[in-house]
Amino acid sequence: MGLTICLSFLLALALTRAAVIVPGATWTDTSGNVIQAHGGGFLKVDSTYYWFGEDKAHNSGLFRAVSCYSSTDMTTWTRHNDALTPVASTTISTSDIVERPKVIFNRATAEYVMWFHSDSSNYGAAQVGVATSRTPCGPYTFKSSFRPLGAESRDMGIYQDDDAAGTSYLLYASDNNQNFKVSRLDANYYNVTTQIAVIPGSTLESPGIIKRNGVYHLFASHTTGWNPNPNKVLTANSLSGPWSSESDIAPPATRTYFSQNTYNMLINSNLAIYMGDRWRPALLGSSRYVWYPLSWSSGRPQIVPADVWTLNLEAGTYTAATGTTYEAENGVLSGPARSLSSSSFSGGVAIGYLGNGGSLTINNVQGIGAAQWVSLYYANGDSTWRNTTVSVLVDQPNTGGGGVVLSVPVKLTLRSGTNSITFSANQANYAADLDKIIVYTAT
Ligand SMILES: *[C@@H]1O[C@H](CO)[C@@H](O)[C@H](O)[C@H]1NC(C)=O
Ligand SMILES: *[C@@H]1O[C@H](CO)[C@@H](O)[C@H](O)[C@H]1NC(C)=O
Repeated sequence: MGLTICLSFLLALALTRAAVIVPGATWTDTSGNVIQAHGGGFLKVDSTYYWFGEDKAHNSGLFRAVSCYSSTDMTTWTRHNDALTPVASTTISTSDIVERPKVIFNRATAEYVMWFHSDSSNYGAAQVGVATSRTPCGPYTFKSSFRPLGAESRDMGIYQDDDAAGTSYLLYASDNNQNFKVSRLDANYYNVTTQIAVIPGSTLESPGIIKRNGVYHLFASHTTGWNPNPNKVLTANSLSGPWSSESDIAPPATRTYFSQNTYNMLINSNLAIYMGDRWRPALLGSSRYVWYPLSWSSGRPQIVPADVWTLNLEAGTYTAATGTTYEAENGVLSGPARSLSSSSFSGGVAIGYLGNGGSLTINNVQGIGAAQWVSLYYANGDSTWRNTTVSVLVDQPNTGGGGVVLSVPVKLTLRSGTNSITFSANQANYAADLDKIIVYTAT
């Protein structure tokens, strides 16, 4: 009897615990599988959010599936049937490219319409594709691929305005990715009818639009392939422009915290979310999702680089978790490990020469006796990816040199009370330089 009460109490705790968003971690669905929804797009139907994206589990750019996940909290995701799968002898066969799926609902026709970047394997076709369904997850029926108004379209997005008709627009990198264009869709969302804006020579791609307090905010990256760049925001009072000059949404040296925009979601006038991909071209299916709150407190939107955060959709708020910081320079060094100085490191110091015989142990780390998130703040002096062994292997995307500090999350099971964490012991390759760690109690 006592045991039953105890168990159900624990179960209730587990069910009510707020799920956390951890940018750059491996995200799993409710079945425990890694979420495969890269270049994603989102759609809200009543109180359910749907996430469509590229399934890259086969680690290739070629088309296998547009996946469909649903959630009511934007954090816990359940996978459904694939929304779109290859159709032999069409432009969406298994030798073609289908990227950046975006779905909108047509209220007049009661149809879900998916638009995507439809291309040949060498990206020479430069088309958009359209598919339709009567249900959010489909399966969708492929209609056609085409060049909008006869011009090239590569990394694209779709924006549905908040007018009564739900007028919608294709946002796309055109003319060999030089000119960025906005074109209006027809009433059934099957085609574009009119180009309403062009931002010439802007080399913008992978766009999303948020309309906040009547102002359109266009978020987009520049064109550097799979490598990240400083993503930008432009504003306008009308989709036809004039569009403002570009401004940064994150410190440019971080290259948008090593991510590329894929979608931008307005929750309410106080809360919006930046959603990006941290591409890993050598292992595409291990590319990660990087979502951050956006803050307008300085006027133009800025990413809030929270390592661990929660979203309260009912209240329309987010909370960045707070953690305990342990500076690397307060740890115990061994082998060739030594201090490095730079004003970009917290306290001006990080520990370098980790790996290849060098290691660092941080003592007296307080744990809660459960798996908990720890963020490693690191930098490396060149443009390589590094690994560091903690109790698990942690990928460290290249920071590009110049003292840029990024953070990567790792989930560690720490003892309740005091722990010692050793970095890079018995590691044959060089790890990145470690600036500090932040230990979160969020699990
Ligand atoms: C889209 O509209 C153009 C005319 O603006 C037409 O030439 C083209 O065939 C249409 N494409 C599709 C797929 O309906
Ligand atoms: C880091 O680990 C990954 C496996 O997760 C491996 O593919 C990669 O080659 C490693 N990189 C280095 C520099 O050792």
